Order: sequence, then structure tokens, then C-alpha cells
Amino acid sequence: MDFYEVVKTRRSFRVYKSDMPEKENIDRILNAARLAPTWANMQGVHYVVVQEPENVKAVWKAVGQQQKFAEAPMFIIGIILEKGSGMNSNGEKYYGVDFGICFEHLILAATAEGLATCWIGWFNEPKVKEVLNIPDEYKVMGITPLGYPVKSKDEVTERKPLEKIVHYEKF
Ligand SMILES: Cc1cc2nc3c(=O)[nH]c(=O)nc-3n(C[C@H](O)[C@H](O)[C@H](O)COP(=O)(O)O)c2cc1C
Repeated sequence: MDFYEVVKTRRSFRVYKSDMPEKENIDRILNAARLAPTWANMQGVHYVVVQEPENVKAVWKAVGQQQKFAEAPMFIIGIILEKGSGMNSNGEKYYGVDFGICFEHLILAATAEGLATCWIGWFNEPKVKEVLNIPDEYKVMGITPLGYPVKSKDEVTERKPLEKIVHYEKF
């Protein structure tokens, strides 16, 4: 799939078939995340890949959202240490930026592999850490189910038009 096709095809999928994605697809997706740029190339993001049914259920419970993701065959959980990145010139920490770049690489790569994802930012972090043995000092920044969509979706349409968000020369 051409890059722009990937960007247009990516949507948030909340209902999944139970089939497990192939290892070679998962490996390529994780490698795309690995290749993402990060602050001073610190590469602070780690990925916890959860496929054992009882662990998948436990993650689902810890996410605590309605049953809509319950059928996802697996999850990828993205974590980073605050000190796994740097800061900008205002002293603002950049770990969230590094994480976002890496996780979006992962999500776009999943789309290119014909797989569905949904970036989940709302979850019970202490519970996710507990069920996956994630050390306290890591921040759980994002979770996505990974699987095959039950239904395909239309291309993204509900976005602001360019003229509302692009400013040429000055704001
Ligand atoms: C940082 C972030 C956090 C999100 N958290 C959730 C979430 O907790 N639950 C959910 O159902 N969708 C979540 N989403 C998905 C957004 O709702 C979705 O991307 C947005 O509505 C646009 O729809 P689309 O992804 O289909 O284009 C999140 C997306 C992002 C980027």
C-alpha cells in the first residue's frame, strides 16, 4: 500500500475477529516502530506484546472500557521512562512526543499489513502495570488491540479543512 493510501485507510477499529495476526506481520510492525525517530536517538519506548488469552483478558479488564474491544486477539502496550527521552528548550519533557511518534509508526505499519488498531489512551495504568509486571518507573502511554477488522471503514472524512489549520507565512 502506498503511504498516502495507508494514511487514508487507518481508522480506529473497536470490533475485531478472533484470528491471531501472523508473527511475520507483527514483527514488521514492531520493526517500523523501532525505526521511528526519537529525541537524540534515545529510543526509550518499549512494547509489551500480549497474546496469551488470559493476559489479553487481563489487559482488557485493566483498560476498563465497554465490551467493544473484548474480541481483540492481542494487544500491544507502549511504555517509556520519563528519563527515556529529553526535553525541549522550555524544559518540557519530550517522552510523550517520542512515544507518539513511535506508536503512530506502529499503527500505520499495522494498517499497511492489513491489520486493525485503535489507539487507547484511557485505561487504569496501575492495573495494566500490575497484570503485565511493568516496573513502577515506566509510564504506560498507549495501548492498541491488533487484529483483523470485522468490517472495513470508510476513509477518514471528519477532519477540519486545511484552510482552518494551515497558516502560510504568519499565523
Ligand atoms: C492519544 C489518543 C488516545 C485515544 N484514546 C482512545 C480511547 O481511550 N478509546 C477509544 O475508543 N479511542 C481512543 N482514541 C481514538 C480516537 O477517538 C480516534 O483516533 C479519533 O476519534 C479519530 O477517529 P479515527 O481514528 O477512526 O480516524 C485515541 C486516539 C488517540 C490519538
